[in-house]
Amino acid sequence: MRLQFLSDLHLESESFDAEPAPGAEALVLGGDIDTSWDALSRFRGWPVPVLMVAGNHEFDGRDIELTWEPLRERCAALGIDLLEQDERVLTDAAGRRIRVLGTIRWCDFDLFGPAKRERCLRAGGYFARVMRSRIEGREFDAEAVREEGLACRAWLEDHLRAPRDDCDATLVITHFAPSLRSADPRFGAQPGTASFCNADDDLLPLADVWLHGHLHCRHDYLAGNTRVVCQARGLQAKGETEGFDPFKLIDVCRRRRQRLHQAHAGLPRRA
Ligand SMILES: [Fe+2]
Ligand SMILES: [Fe+2]
Repeated sequence: MRLQFLSDLHLESESFDAEPAPGAEALVLGGDIDTSWDALSRFRGWPVPVLMVAGNHEFDGRDIELTWEPLRERCAALGIDLLEQDERVLTDAAGRRIRVLGTIRWCDFDLFGPAKRERCLRAGGYFARVMRSRIEGREFDAEAVREEGLACRAWLEDHLRAPRDDCDATLVITHFAPSLRSADPRFGAQPGTASFCNADDDLLPLADVWLHGHLHCRHDYLAGNTRVVCQARGLQAKGETEGFDPFKLIDVCRRRRQRLHQAHAGLPRRA
């Protein structure tokens, strides 16, 4: 299944008109699309299915718990399928069944292990304050972000570890990154990086493709047999949009099986 993937469009301030990529069988929106949610209407009537995970900025100035339902309703009214701890099965043009698992996957600040958690939480305080969000009446501070992040991680791990033999490939979509390898090279590995990446490297082998945003840079790398792609547009004024290709297509297929086929292609068959 060929996907168009757009993330971190930040249409609350950016000028960008998304257009359907020729050949795409679905569009994935990776969050931070528009803090006001107004620009989500641009995806109404999109020619292929639109899947979305929320970004942190979809919650700016809002109460986290009270926001999911209206955001789901807003998306549903526009024909956008918002995934938060949700699973879907898509069938591509060739009849292959793609299992899709989606969650924002807030950060849990354990990127560098429990010993460095406190430092990372302190660094994450800034990021949480920028959002000015609340949860259950209190500030959505770094500790609260971590709690939500751990719940997302538990859901994702449960589902990834549950065998699903009726699907040909597994696609994971998150807003936050699953690995330190996705860190923004401008900032590298520092306590603040734990506000952007999680140490979900142990889950990567359970997916064939993992799409994420949140880092305002692009990535496309293999972690073992898993392809990890970040397709954030970012902010033009900071030079982040340079090199962004909104028409890039990402093919979701089972890489392990492909490699196995390749490895065995030259071997004689057993009678
Ligand atoms: Fe962003
Ligand atoms: Fe973000």
